[in-house]
Amino acid sequence: MPNPSYGTLDASYQAAGQLAGITALVDAFYGYMETLPEAAKIRAMHPQDLAESRRKLSYFLSGWLGGPKLYAEHYGGIRIPLFHKPFPIGDAERDAWLLCMQKAIAEQPYTDDFKEYLLTQLRVPAERIRQVNVTQQR
Ligand code: HEM
Repeated sequence: MPNPSYGTLDASYQAAGQLAGITALVDAFYGYMETLPEAAKIRAMHPQDLAESRRKLSYFLSGWLGGPKLYAEHYGGIRIPLFHKPFPIGDAERDAWLLCMQKAIAEQPYTDDFKEYLLTQLRVPAERIRQVNVTQQR
């Protein structure tokens, strides 16, 4: 039974283990991106050194989950679909990103309902990125 409070105030940020928990999630996520064959193409879109990518995604997710808005504080505003427009992201690339997230989420010490909630929520911007990309390419 999903906890109805996720998505309100900082409930999701707390469920994710605050910044330390989010950092562990993002480390696992990029670990999968570096090793899964399905993710080779999206890995190649990223810089060779993923340190900055890890920090940016962790900071972004902090605010996105209702915690401190660290990305905005450090880097300013971002519109996720627009930011990703230059990258060729279709169904396969969206699915590869979500596969890395799914595997990373699965190994975190989260409750099952938060795992399910988080992946469901992340599908929304991932799909939006793909849609914006398609609009631009055609
Ligand atoms: C749909 C599949 C996705 C692909 C293939 C993808 C790929 C990329 C690439 C190639 C970069 C630039 C490399 C870098 O500077 O790190 C990037 C940056 C980023 N992505 Fe994604 N991404 C996807 C989905 C998402 C989603 C769903 C989110 C948010 C929930 C997200 C958040 C970010 C952030 C915060 C950055 C750093 C922006 C910056 O450089 O300031 N991405 N992504």
